Amino acid sequence: MSRKVGMWLYQNGGGDKIEKKIIKKLKARGIETLPGINPRHAIAKNGTIYHGDTRINDLDLFFSYNAGEQTQYQVFLYQALNRIMPMINSYEAFSLTEDKFQTSFVLQNHGIATPDFKLCHRDDSEQLRSIIRKWDKMVYKPTDGWGGIGLTKIENEATLDMLLPLLNQMDLRFFYVEKFLQYDNTDYRVDIVDGQFVGCYGRKASGSDWRTNITSGGSVFLREPNDEIVDLAIKASKVCGVDISGVDIIYDREKEEYVVIEVNGIPAFATPEQEKLGLNFNKKKINLIVDMIDRKSAEHYKNK
Ligand SMILES: Nc1ncnc2c1ncn2[C@@H]1O[C@H](COP(=O)(O)OP(=O)(O)O)[C@@H](O)[C@H]1O
Ligand SMILES: [Mg+2]
Repeated sequence: MSRKVGMWLYQNGGGDKIEKKIIKKLKARGIETLPGINPRHAIAKNGTIYHGDTRINDLDLFFSYNAGEQTQYQVFLYQALNRIMPMINSYEAFSLTEDKFQTSFVLQNHGIATPDFKLCHRDDSEQLRSIIRKWDKMVYKPTDGWGGIGLTKIENEATLDMLLPLLNQMDLRFFYVEKFLQYDNTDYRVDIVDGQFVGCYGRKASGSDWRTNITSGGSVFLREPNDEIVDLAIKASKVCGVDISGVDIIYDREKEEYVVIEVNGIPAFATPEQEKLGLNFNKKKINLIVDMIDRKSAEHYKNK
């Protein structure tokens, strides 16, 4: 019996074509791929997880790469699956990078620069008042958000006073805020696979917006990183334990250093439009992912 791996990869933005390429390359190495294993449609019966007639337990690895569609149920099964087989990314790394506070906390404790941040209990909003006096401007961030959604710039104490009653209505457990960094409204998105540099591009916020996210109107441009940026992205990926990552980095004008804004565990491949623009790292990314699936599934297969 040959090795089998399960895969759940996003299909939009060229994801379907990437999936076909990965399957073909794995096949050439004697590895069979079962694509489209959406945990939404899986069930657990006693100790076995089924997806239709497929016994997921028999797989040698599961490659989960679908950022847009992670519900609580899917994440719950992600956790269970990772107890019995290797997953890319590991559940631990996946759940870490899904949370901005936990990620910044880990990064800071490994000496990696992030924006200054503060987390406090929702009843402790005095903390926010004291910190805005010190920081001048800050950003309120939902810790599990994406695409720049829900990020709120707080310009002064008066804005904070306006915002607090709204936040209090939202039934939050805590407040997570970051110092608002002075930067040129551009960032570096650095893709790392298996500890190796894959590619980099830049993003620029549009008009008066300060967020570089495409969903917030930002645009992508060709950008070469320097060694410092690449090293920072590799180190951040390592301490977060991510096999695959897209690390967002900006240059803090005040401290005059590069800081890690976010570690994304499911960074998109370049879309066909972005490839036309010159983002040419997909091939390298696919090859590194295939190597890694090969190596990790072989380890599991050998020990069965
Ligand atoms: N502390 C900050 N200071 C200034 N700009 C920030 C700060 N944090 C985030 N941003 C801007 O907002 C964007 C989105 O923030 P990020 O933490 O990556 O959240 P998301 O998960 O929504 O992408 C970043 O790409 C950056 O342009
Ligand atoms: Mg981001």
